[in-house]
Amino acid sequence: MNLKRTFHIIRRTLQIASKIKQYDAVDTKRITFQRVKVDDYYKVLSIRSPDDVYEGYDYLPDRFHKLISSSSIEGYAASIDNKLVAFQLVNLLDDGRTVLTQAGRVDKEYEGTGLYNALDSFTQHNYNLLGRQRTFSFDEHNQTLMKHLYARKMETVMSRDVSAYHVKSHKEILKNNTIGPSNNNTIFPVHLKEVFKSEKTSRELFPEGRMLCFYVPYKLKDSNIPLIYSQGTKVLGSFTEGSLLVTAGTSFQCSKGHVFVLDVYGTLNETFVKHILQHFRHVDLRFFNEPMEINVHCMDSGNQYIADAMNQLDIQKDESFRDVHHVTTAEMN
Ligand SMILES: CC(C)(COP(=O)(O)OP(=O)(O)OC[C@H]1O[C@@H](n2cnc3c(N)ncnc32)[C@H](O)[C@@H]1OP(=O)(O)O)[C@@H](O)C(=O)NCCC(=O)NCCS
Repeated sequence: MNLKRTFHIIRRTLQIASKIKQYDAVDTKRITFQRVKVDDYYKVLSIRSPDDVYEGYDYLPDRFHKLISSSSIEGYAASIDNKLVAFQLVNLLDDGRTVLTQAGRVDKEYEGTGLYNALDSFTQHNYNLLGRQRTFSFDEHNQTLMKHLYARKMETVMSRDVSAYHVKSHKEILKNNTIGPSNNNTIFPVHLKEVFKSEKTSRELFPEGRMLCFYVPYKLKDSNIPLIYSQGTKVLGSFTEGSLLVTAGTSFQCSKGHVFVLDVYGTLNETFVKHILQHFRHVDLRFFNEPMEINVHCMDSGNQYIADAMNQLDIQKDESFRDVHHVTTAEMN
């Protein structure tokens, strides 16, 4: 056998061996579980590089303190030999009736070993989550959950097109475009309560009975209103020729840079451009001089009013970005 062939066989054997090691189940006696507190920030963040979570759109490094301090959220982790190796946020929504797990991650070394599932069943069993409805919020990059969706193990309750736009300087855009007299208005929690109360308005804005805001699907319940605003989200509303348009904007910092998530509800119209400008005015001051990526979540990313507004403000669409965000429910197991 020549040297090249021998080398090839050794390399192949090593590759297979490393795969077997990867899929070896972890000895469950080595795993411990714990509730995560604000002080555990660095331990949680060291589990996995943020570049390798949500394709670089990982909001946890920026949002950890705000999320973990939210009244509806608790963080849980699994450790092996005193090192945190898996993490998830458990968000109790809809008067505590719905469970959403967020920001999940597993140490690369233990990926595919069932550790995340072990953490998940620990939190479900130990924190009295059984009997509540389980909801998932994910995009098409999440192949595991997409497979569950195709296999009908979960039911779609809503989905949104996601498109991306790049803004070099929103400060410059604000300088070059005056908003002028507008009927845009900030929607405060007290107004949102009225919206949720009105069956007609709710149906027009939130036909699926949920308000997806910064990746979290909220049923139209009063108890969710403080949660919607807890992430610094700005909500704007306008009424133009009989149609309602509401937009909710939330900024965060991640490996991709400054990302601005814009959730759109109701009917898009020419007022959309004013909404964008008004959101720019409220962008977190930390990001005032930075380029920004806008991720628009809406019913139809091809809508002409979005294209017109972005053209008017000279904001470039990222044609290579195409995504769909899904919200599903599944039985607790
Ligand atoms: C997603 C991730 C945590 C899964 O880790 P894993 O080692 O493959 O986990 P397991 O082998 O224990 O099982 C995967 C389970 O994760 C669950 N899962 C995947 N994404 C999930 C999400 N967004 N919310 C809730 N559960 C999710 C699946 O239901 C799957 O369960 P199944 O066995 O019934 O199919 C891991 O791949 C990871 O850290 N990825 C990078 C972080 C990331 O992008 N997270 C987004 C998902 S929250």
